[in-house]
Amino acid sequence: MNKDALVQDIRASLDRPVTLVGLMGSGKTRLGRMLASVLDLEFVDTDQRVEAEAGCTISQIFEQSGEKVFRDHETRVVAGLLAPVMATPCIVSTGGGAVMRPENAALIFGHTVSVWLKTDISILLDRLEHVRNRPLLKNTDPAETLMAMAKQRYPLYEKADIIRETGQDTPQQILDSLLVSIAEKVKK
Ligand code: S3P
Repeated sequence: MNKDALVQDIRASLDRPVTLVGLMGSGKTRLGRMLASVLDLEFVDTDQRVEAEAGCTISQIFEQSGEKVFRDHETRVVAGLLAPVMATPCIVSTGGGAVMRPENAALIFGHTVSVWLKTDISILLDRLEHVRNRPLLKNTDPAETLMAMAKQRYPLYEKADIIRETGQDTPQQILDSLLVSIAEKVKK
């Protein structure tokens, strides 16, 4: 099926948000924006929404108030976007740890089309090498931290409707295959 037909099929059948989950650096925001653009849907990044509502950066929230306050805020944002009464089709990129709160996981995996972007840790390390806005990597061995996160989080990410191993594929290749998978998932 050609891309226009896939897009039309998805737009005709999608009745809930599409959410992207995965470890930091896996490309959720980039792919989310691309999906939203091709499907002509609103794009929301939960981290950006938390920052806009808090009026400061995630690093500042971690520094000034700690992780729990960040997670509480993130949970309110996820509920506001994904609780079935308000949820309309849109594309939501979630922070890598959002699935750790059971109430978030219940919404993401129970009420949306969920997509796990599964990326090798070696690739994530390359991408995150010069990035400074991930407080959980600050003052740690990034490889160890990411491996510990993978151990904790993979069993949750595995609940996603669609699992896309990203490997060295380009964003465009990933986008094209996600359109096929999403169309398949929402087909009536
Ligand atoms: C986090 C991931 C970040 C952000 C925060 C915590 C995590 O989002 O929510 O720094 O626990 O993995 P990204 O996955 O978009 O980097």
